[in-house]
Amino acid sequence: MTDTGTSGRTSLHGFWSSRLAFILAVTGSAVGLGNIWRFPYIAGENGGGAFVIVYLLAIVIVGLPIMMSEVLIGRRGRRNPVSTMRLLGEEESGAANWKYVGVLGVGAGIVILSFYSVIAGWAVAYVIESAGNAFEDATAASVEQVFNALASNPVRTGLWHTLFLVATAFVIARGVERGIERAVRVMMPALIVLLLVLLGYSVVEGAFAQGVQFMFEPRFEELTRDGLMEALGHAFFTLSVGMGAVMAYGAYLPGDASIMKMSVAVVVADTAIALIAALVVFPIVFANGLSPDAGPGLVFQSLPLAFSQMPGGAVISTLLFVLLTFAAWTSAISMMEPATAWCIERLGWSRARAASIVAGITWALSLLTVLSFSTLSDATFLRGTFFDNIDFLSNSILLPLGGLAITIFAGWIMARRSTASELDPEAGTAYRIWRFTARYVTPLAIIAVLLRGVGVI
Ligand code: PHE
Repeated sequence: MTDTGTSGRTSLHGFWSSRLAFILAVTGSAVGLGNIWRFPYIAGENGGGAFVIVYLLAIVIVGLPIMMSEVLIGRRGRRNPVSTMRLLGEEESGAANWKYVGVLGVGAGIVILSFYSVIAGWAVAYVIESAGNAFEDATAASVEQVFNALASNPVRTGLWHTLFLVATAFVIARGVERGIERAVRVMMPALIVLLLVLLGYSVVEGAFAQGVQFMFEPRFEELTRDGLMEALGHAFFTLSVGMGAVMAYGAYLPGDASIMKMSVAVVVADTAIALIAALVVFPIVFANGLSPDAGPGLVFQSLPLAFSQMPGGAVISTLLFVLLTFAAWTSAISMMEPATAWCIERLGWSRARAASIVAGITWALSLLTVLSFSTLSDATFLRGTFFDNIDFLSNSILLPLGGLAITIFAGWIMARRSTASELDPEAGTAYRIWRFTARYVTPLAIIAVLLRGVGVI
């Protein structure tokens, strides 16, 4: 029998087959387009340096403690994020309203997936482009043209992203463990090897020193209020925290696994992959006279340039976009799992039905993102296109708010006894550091960034 842990509750959806399976699943959730597509492009838009430093700080003092909090809450509640927050809310403080934290998360997951699937669709399209040798003898102008031709064509992007969403729903419908586990086990090592190959290329052929300088030289005067919010928001996004994805996965974690050690492993791997990706991209950008603030197309334009110049480039390029698609897939699965688990438990639907309906709603919403790169690309408001707005709303506002509520719940509402029994019954130094951080440092850091974002400080 699987050890259910100190709460004595058991998961309704089965358990991970092993600790490694859980680490793989959470790593699969964390590592995705956030690391390889989003991190380089938003770092580029925000001037590098200071942005990267704030992001790294946010990972350590905000992302990591919240990841631990989410896993511990999930494992203790053993339900979907909404029911778990309600159950623990009642248990710890008599307040069932904590369930709204779960509701916010389920909603944020769908909103994020609606644009995530569109970008993942681009990655799928790039598999085909690469295999068809579209990047042979590429120039800065030709890669831009290939990218624009894709993004501005709503029918092409629409088809690929629909395929991607169907594939995501398919895995979800089959259950949590089969599928995800196998995909990540093969994909993650392969992705790392390919990134290292690309890194080698960047060091030799790219403007490597310039890339490093761009990324790490702190120029705090260039960091705007929005940049600060985006750095914090990206720490949430890249670790998949703040919306219950990790909480949902924690619900299937056997009771005897060390949450702290696992979380550290996932965070280190995720951060390393993002930094390597950026160290690949920027040297290529500078060596080819591209602009670091090219926006969402940055990776899709810079990497093909490198591929076109290396021996076997078409093969490596095809492989890389296949792996990126897989990385995005394992992340998308985790975005959809909270809503699906909720429909199953709350509405009594079958897994297949829940997955199809959640995917259908997400698909309808995602059409707005598809159009915001094509037909509606000139329809800008507030921060830019519809995509710019929905990206900012979900990542820089909803995830930090969700994360704030989660850290307050774990640090202040849950009894010390409850959190200690999940994290470390002996309440050793690491536990005490976590608790202090989750109670004071993490919430204050989030509040400070949000207040600065709205201009109060
Ligand atoms: N962490 C994923 C990535 O970096 C995105 C994600 C966000 C996944 C939120 C789940 C929940 O691509």
